Amino acid sequence: MTATALTGKRILITGGAGFIGSHLARTLVAENEVVILDALTTGSRSNVPDGATFIEGDIRDDAALERAIDGVDVIFHEAALVSVERAIDDPPLSHAINVGATLSLLEAARDHDVRVVLASSAAIYGHPESVPIDEAEPKTPASPYGIDKHSIDQYARQYHDQYGLEVVALRYFNVFGPGQVAGPYSGVISIFLEQALAGESITVEGDGSQTRDFVYIDDVVQANCLAATSATSGHAFNIGTGQAVTIREVAEQIQEQTGTDAAIVHTEPRAGDIDHSRADISAAKAALGYEPTVSFEDGLEHTLEWYRTHQQPTP
Ligand code: UD1
Repeated sequence: MTATALTGKRILITGGAGFIGSHLARTLVAENEVVILDALTTGSRSNVPDGATFIEGDIRDDAALERAIDGVDVIFHEAALVSVERAIDDPPLSHAINVGATLSLLEAARDHDVRVVLASSAAIYGHPESVPIDEAEPKTPASPYGIDKHSIDQYARQYHDQYGLEVVALRYFNVFGPGQVAGPYSGVISIFLEQALAGESITVEGDGSQTRDFVYIDDVVQANCLAATSATSGHAFNIGTGQAVTIREVAEQIQEQTGTDAAIVHTEPRAGDIDHSRADISAAKAALGYEPTVSFEDGLEHTLEWYRTHQQPTP
């Protein structure tokens, strides 16, 4: 469990029943009063830790938001329409949830004078011109999801500059870890782990030479806690590790660590896939004191352990 300077606060976590939000909630609940607002669209009630106050509600519902924000000192805004594909199918829905509701949340935070830590995404960079990607890289999002995350990332700065709201945006790279349940829209690691444990072929899309910066969930929790307590405000930071791994290496590592007989097969490359993504994390290091602590191999081991105990692979 990540040590944090956050104690004795009342904290709202939107999306607190989801993957990232629930890890934050579990870390913070012992020393703080945690309120979770989650519509349970993709999150799960069982992710809500004991001791947290749970409000089942949609962030688009102003009344639910008002109730959730009452008396809080800090908000972690993790609720979102997280599926890139779903956002491509329905841009207005993505806009309503990812932008519209976030604007309402920023307004409420402004009214109540509450600090906000906002989940932004590497998706705002689209196809980067070069790696590592620093925060000044051109923003050419390649999906409605990326456009929406870019929008709230920019609104966060506006709310700081115009209204003095204390807000930090965290641009997550490829987050992975226990509790990230495999599904058609889930991260590649959860998909490969589930395939390997079920003895199914591991499906690498394309030749596997594409690279990603995989950041373990504990380090994402660490970044959030630092952003909530830092003197820094009005800025956005990349949250990754600064290291890149090829997708082929991910598949091989999973093959080895699971001890599966499952073969690695190559399928068609994903349309519009990003070739290389790797964060320059020097700004987060300097301004927040962020330092990734979990190696890719160790993170994978912890995630695998969780899958072995929590998932029932289909026979
Ligand atoms: C991730 C985020 C996305 C964000 C983007 C920003 C997730 C789930 N998605 O997308 O929200 O917009 O970063 O850059 O974290 N792959 C396979 N086989 C599979 C599944 C995936 O080979 O079965 C490959 C993909 O083709 C891709 C890589 O793995 O090259 C990573 O895919 P994925 O985990 O979906 O994440 P991103 O595409 O990086």
